[in-house]
Amino acid sequence: MLTKLSNKRAFKQVLAKLIAPGNFFRFLRLLRTTNRYRRAYDDAQLKLYSQLLPGDFLHYGYFDDPAIVPEKISLHDLQRAQVRYAELIMQKTVDKDLPVLDVGCGMGGLINLLLQNGFLPVGLTPDRFQIQYLKEKYPNISLIHSKFEKMDVESYKNYFGTVITSESLQYLNLDEAISTIRQVMTSAGRWIAADYFRVGDAFEKSGHNWELFERKLREGGFKIISQQDITPNVLPTLSYAYMWGERLVVPLFEFLTGKLQKKQPAIFFLLEEIIEALEVSMADHINVVDPQIFAQGKKYMLLVIEKS
Ligand SMILES: C[S@@+](CC[C@H](N)C(=O)[O-])C[C@H]1O[C@@H](n2cnc3c(N)ncnc32)[C@H](O)[C@@H]1O
Repeated sequence: MLTKLSNKRAFKQVLAKLIAPGNFFRFLRLLRTTNRYRRAYDDAQLKLYSQLLPGDFLHYGYFDDPAIVPEKISLHDLQRAQVRYAELIMQKTVDKDLPVLDVGCGMGGLINLLLQNGFLPVGLTPDRFQIQYLKEKYPNISLIHSKFEKMDVESYKNYFGTVITSESLQYLNLDEAISTIRQVMTSAGRWIAADYFRVGDAFEKSGHNWELFERKLREGGFKIISQQDITPNVLPTLSYAYMWGERLVVPLFEFLTGKLQKKQPAIFFLLEEIIEALEVSMADHINVVDPQIFAQGKKYMLLVIEKS
């Protein structure tokens, strides 16, 4: 395709689009709107994951064999690991009489498992794509379309016997999450949290700081009653993503930009800085899934928490 599009024609097309009536002002408007994008309500990254792994889970999964090498992992293994992770959470869920709140329920994989095992799940997510999908797939269950921090707490005082945050705690404001769980969960209730936390100087800022989390839990009137470090069991997923990043995404990017440089030097010249910025951003994204970097700065915990 690149060979068929001449330099001159490509340049003319970009210019013609920019100077067409109304387009220049639209372009300026779009330049300004990119920063106002509100991720929680429309998370393109999570939507992509749901399309790559259509098993209705958006978490890292749990591999029983942490020593498995990425070359031997199949998409089937990955989806199996995601089910395993959900099963581990479900095994910690004991109350079948009171509703179970799945905070940041994603595509509903855990909701499905809970339903099949006689629990009463209620899903909560702010994401429009997820809520639409869930409404169609589970028309009979209660869904709350809201950020957790903005949940209508008054209507759910002491309502849930279990609250689950399955890889969603990292997205939440910690103080507000702790205070909301305290209010919506019964005094004998159980909060099950599976997520990664920053320990020491992490390369990347996602995940709450572990020490701060422990302190805020205590101050918020909670205690951890069981904890399991499952970092080794989630690392195979990272190794798998890292392998594809290094072996496919980077070489493909280099191949395509190299081809552009050869076939369309003028367009390449115009885009050079953007291509460089994309290269940096790609390297950053790949580093996020580098299993070694992850294990140095983060730990993935499966926690059972109760009111103290
Ligand atoms: C990594 S996904 C995990 C999804 C699901 N729990 C799972 O295990 O497959 C994170 C989830 O948290 C949700 N989320 C992000 N920000 C949130 C917020 N402020 N309140 C509630 N949920 C949020 C996302 O939309 C998504 O459903």
